[in-house]
Amino acid sequence: MKFSLAAAATALFATALADVDPIIIKGSKFFYKTNGTQFFMRGVAYQQEINSNTSASSDVQYTDPLSDATSCKRDIPFLTKVKTNTIRVYAINPDENHDDCMNALANAGIYVIADLSEPGLSINREDPEWNVPLFERYTKVIDVMAKYTNTLGFFAGNEVSNQKNNTYASAFVKAAVRDSKAYIKSKNYRALGVGYATNDDADIRENLASYFDCGKTEEAIDFWGYNIYSWCGESSFTKSGFDVRTKEFESYNVPVFFAEYGCNTPRPRLFTEVGALYGDDMTGVWSGGIVYMYFEEENKFGLATVDGDKVTTNEDFDNLSKEIAKATPSGVKADSYSPTNTAAASCPTVNSDWGAPSDPLPPAANAVLCSCMMSSIGCQVADSVSDDDLGDLFGTVCGYEEGKYCAGVNKNTTVGPYGAYGMCSAKEQLSFALNAYYEGQKKAAKACDFKSSATVKAAASSTASSCVSLMSQAGKEGTGTVTAGAVAGTSGSSSGSKGAAAGMSVTHVRVGSLGLGLYVLGALASGFAMILL
Ligand SMILES: *[C@@H]1O[C@H](CO)[C@@H](O)[C@H](O)[C@H]1NC(C)=O
Ligand SMILES: *[C@@H]1O[C@H](CO)[C@@H](O)[C@H](O)[C@H]1NC(C)=O
Ligand SMILES: *[C@@H]1O[C@H](CO)[C@@H](O)[C@H](O)[C@H]1NC(C)=O
Ligand SMILES: *[C@@H]1O[C@H](CO)[C@@H](O)[C@H](O)[C@H]1NC(C)=O
Ligand SMILES: *[C@@H]1O[C@H](CO)[C@@H](O)[C@H](O)[C@H]1NC(C)=O
Repeated sequence: MKFSLAAAATALFATALADVDPIIIKGSKFFYKTNGTQFFMRGVAYQQEINSNTSASSDVQYTDPLSDATSCKRDIPFLTKVKTNTIRVYAINPDENHDDCMNALANAGIYVIADLSEPGLSINREDPEWNVPLFERYTKVIDVMAKYTNTLGFFAGNEVSNQKNNTYASAFVKAAVRDSKAYIKSKNYRALGVGYATNDDADIRENLASYFDCGKTEEAIDFWGYNIYSWCGESSFTKSGFDVRTKEFESYNVPVFFAEYGCNTPRPRLFTEVGALYGDDMTGVWSGGIVYMYFEEENKFGLATVDGDKVTTNEDFDNLSKEIAKATPSGVKADSYSPTNTAAASCPTVNSDWGAPSDPLPPAANAVLCSCMMSSIGCQVADSVSDDDLGDLFGTVCGYEEGKYCAGVNKNTTVGPYGAYGMCSAKEQLSFALNAYYEGQKKAAKACDFKSSATVKAAASSTASSCVSLMSQAGKEGTGTVTAGAVAGTSGSSSGSKGAAAGMSVTHVRVGSLGLGLYVLGALASGFAMILL
């Protein structure tokens, strides 16, 4: 551990304060590590809606709920009143310090489950990718949170696929699960689970749950979070469908819990579902849940209104408080629990109801491979090209010869194979394609121009030894399979992938990648060059 002296003093003190018993997973249940008592989440979602007024840098489109200790300390007593032992946070800023909040939460016995994405760096269901800039965001959050004993785990995605026509996006989320798990392992962090939070879409919910759980353990989720709003007002275990949901997960082999719950029509919310969730009908299968949410905002899901240092709780809060007070699930002890349901779900077949293949998953985000490729090519995107223009360029170069020059960055889940370089940054992917075209034209000078958007550069005269096997697996067209796994970029890497990720604003990343996806949809149909956006 590297700390400055001053920080070290605080850190030592803080660590002593903050040691809670980590939560571990055995079979389909959570347990306190030391005494083996089963852990049921009594959670509250804790994140203000995107606030453009944030004092943080202008790129950051969210308020980090764990970086302002004054706010955390203001709210913890209220969280405690509703017996909260877990909060869910949707986006933290890894560049901020979270020690004070995390300590204060630990002292209150509150664990944190954190989403790894943020609004501007997340997997987009309309144009999904799993790439190095995203992986770098994910690993930064993991690095920041792994050191706290009250970190419970991570979500690699939230409600990405939400209908049949975007189920293929789940392939990229599962790749994110795989790479995040591999990263935690490679850093020798304690066992921290990586899961997924789904919404409750009748058409796809069973395929989703099976898909993320099936196949190799290294690729599968460690827990499954269900965002569910089907118990509204005076409902019941059967009327809400909780009975059927419970049956569906009876033999699931990892923990399941409600990652969001609390239908808000009608209000005040009664929270009578709490009795079911923590009662005998459900505790054999579910590990509790997370009420959506703490802050009262426009969407009217809050338990409390905050104004400066003042907190005003509402009737929802009172009702939740009464109901949760009665929730005393007993559970099982870790020692006496031998999971009977150890088999993973079977992978759903790809058909009109389900678009994501289970094997292979999209390629691992490997910053080294991108950097190797970048030094090997002789034509690349000109520095002057703005991120806004990447989409047009993709449309042009990928439109030639039925997309042949873009095979190395293909992300179409049904027209395989995935391109080995489809996980690089948008500019790197485009450079690969421009170079493929340039080589296809026997390096005619005019072939690396694209109205001054492409520029000739000196290709490395020999391939670095660390690149040889990576590049040969990827193959000249980029259609091979690279087995090295995920590698996060390192600061100052020559690839520029880090710089590209950091330098791209939220919108630019989206535009850059959107262009490519739209191209793929259109160009294969038309076979012509097309202009986008
Ligand atoms: C086990 O440990 C947890 C956290 O330290 C504590 O809340 C719980 O009450 C303990 N269980 C028993 C049975 O003592
Ligand atoms: C932004 O902050 C300013 C000054 O603190 C305040 O007057 C304004 O109402 C805020 N706007 C929003 C949308 O929160
Ligand atoms: C899926 O269908 C919806 C309309 O039901 C449409 O708005 C959306 O763009 C479609 N998404 C994709 C990826 O085709
Ligand atoms: C919920 O709140 C309303 C309004 O305060 C109250 O009338 C009702 O009795 C409460 N219900 C429960 C189940 O506590
Ligand atoms: C993949 O390509 C096929 C064939 O061109 C096309 O029908 C399909 O829509 C594409 N899928 C996606 C997700 O782009």
